[in-house]
This record gives sequence, C-alpha cells and structure tokens, in this order.
Amino acid sequence: MNKLESIAKYDIKKTDEMFQAPYGSSKFTTYDRVYSETNEPCDIIISKFDVKDKSVLTVLGSGDQAIQFYVNGAKNVDLFDINKLTIYYYYLRIWHMKKYGTMYPEDIFNSNYFKEILKYVNPSSYNEKLAYLYWNRFISKFDSDKLNNFFSNSFYRKINEDVNSELVLKKISEDDFSFHNLDFTLPFDLSKKYDFIYTSNLSDYIKDERLKIYRDNLYNHLNKGGIVLSSNLSGSINCHKYVTQRRALRRYFKFRNISYFNKEFMEVDDIGYSYKKRRIKRII
Ligand SMILES: C[S@@+](CC[C@H](N)C(=O)[O-])C[C@H]1O[C@@H](n2cnc3c(N)ncnc32)[C@H](O)[C@@H]1O
Repeated sequence: MNKLESIAKYDIKKTDEMFQAPYGSSKFTTYDRVYSETNEPCDIIISKFDVKDKSVLTVLGSGDQAIQFYVNGAKNVDLFDINKLTIYYYYLRIWHMKKYGTMYPEDIFNSNYFKEILKYVNPSSYNEKLAYLYWNRFISKFDSDKLNNFFSNSFYRKINEDVNSELVLKKISEDDFSFHNLDFTLPFDLSKKYDFIYTSNLSDYIKDERLKIYRDNLYNHLNKGGIVLSSNLSGSINCHKYVTQRRALRRYFKFRNISYFNKEFMEVDDIGYSYKKRRIKRII
C-alpha cells in the first residue's frame, strides 16, 4: 500500500469512529461532520469588499465561502480547516460541478451517485488523489444510510445555487490553491500573507486565553492593510464575547461592523464584522 492509500485508509477508520460516537461529540475536531452548505450570508459579506484579483485565506467548511470568493473575482483562494474531512467534500463539489454543471451535490445519500462521479474523476494534485482514494474507500465501507452521517445538520443557505459553475471551475483550475488542516487558535506559520482572511464565525468558539494567539495568526498572515472578514450568527455585536474579542485585537486591527438592510423585515441586521490590519509602531 502506498503512502496516499494508507492515509485514506486511516481517515476512513477515523470517519468510522466519528460515526460511532454520539452526535456532536466531535464538534470542531480533526474528524468531524461537514457542513453541506453554509449557514451564514457569506455572499453578502464578501460582496461588500473588492476582492478582485486578491489573495485569500478562508475557512473551508462547506466550500461555499471559497466558491463565493472565486465568483467575486479573487485570484488565489487558499483554504484552512480544523476538520480534515472538509477537503474531501470540497473535491466532491468540484467533481460534481464538472460532471453535472450544478453547484450542490443533489443525491448525496445515494452510493450510486458516488460511483457515477468517481468513474468520471481523473485526479491530478496530491489532495485530489487523496480525496479520490478516500471516497472510493468510503462507498465500499459504508452503507447508503451512513452517507447521511457525513454532514452536520444545521440551518443551511444554498448561496451559490445560481452560480455559473464553468466560471468557478475555470478560476479553480487557474489557482494552485493549498489546503491547511490547522487549528486557527493555535500558533502556525504558513510563510505566506494574504489580502483577506475569512474566518466565518469560528471566533465565537475561541476561549478568551486563546484570543491573542488568534490575533497573532491573523496579523502575521495578512499583507499591509489586509482585512479579516467574520460572520456574526450570535446576534448583538455588543455582546460580552465580541467586546472581549475587540479588546484583544484593537491595537493591531481597526474594527468595522458589517450590516445589511433586510427588506423583508425592514430592519438592519449585523451580519458580520471586519478587522483591518493597522501599522504597529514598535515601542523601544
Ligand atoms: C465555524 S464553522 C460554522 C459554519 C459556518 N457558519 C458556515 O457557514 O460555513 C465553519 C468551519 O470552521 C471550522 N472551524 C471551527 N473552529 C476552527 C478552528 N479553531 N480552526 C480552524 N477551523 C475551525 C469547522 O471545522 C467548520 O468546518
């Protein structure tokens, strides 16, 4: 067995353990259920900024955020997620776009669907080959009813349903993107800087003592004037959690609320916030 096959075999073993464990016990770990679609208005958040030809580092999750950055013209969209299984789902979405020309896999709970897709795939990069091996093992190991277990249930928004899949595939094929399986609340060094970092709402789950590590990871991976984009799914931007976060970041970043006028309810929603990197003067 070669190296890639043994990684795929190990990841299937860990997926099986996740299936056996009580629902929710693996939340935000290396082997966790994957969001099938986003549950935040990342299309609106991203559209408030000029990301054309920019470099981006985004949480992967369902892949919707990355796809939205391509739709809005970003040039390079690198990915990170604490959950390793997200990259396998991202490739499934890419293959689905190639074969069916639509954005979301429709018949995901049907193993015949997987067989049809895998017949069609001709993997090239390291991660794509690994994803191919993973899904092949997946369909031979698990029954159709288990496929359902792969996803976390939530309140989903299919933001990219009407997107032109050809355009997205073209952008993806021109981009030599990377995936980093990492915890954003622990120190890391990607030796690369970005114009935008999209963190979704992951900071909602950061313990106060890790906020400075989170801040340093953001600061060290942003270009001059670079911007962090985050979604707000928790309600008030003035709740204790966000005030504590702003206090930890304010010397390094300029905070701005992202709001949206919701025509249906005739009210303004705080859908997210941004942090723009400041120039820090060194104190000698
Ligand atoms: C914060 S979750 C919530 C879903 C999100 N609102 C969306 O629409 O996709 C998004 C992704 O963040 C990842 N995540 C959570 N905490 C993380 C961390 N500390 N470091 C890296 N990724 C993390 C999860 O694995 C998940 O795939």
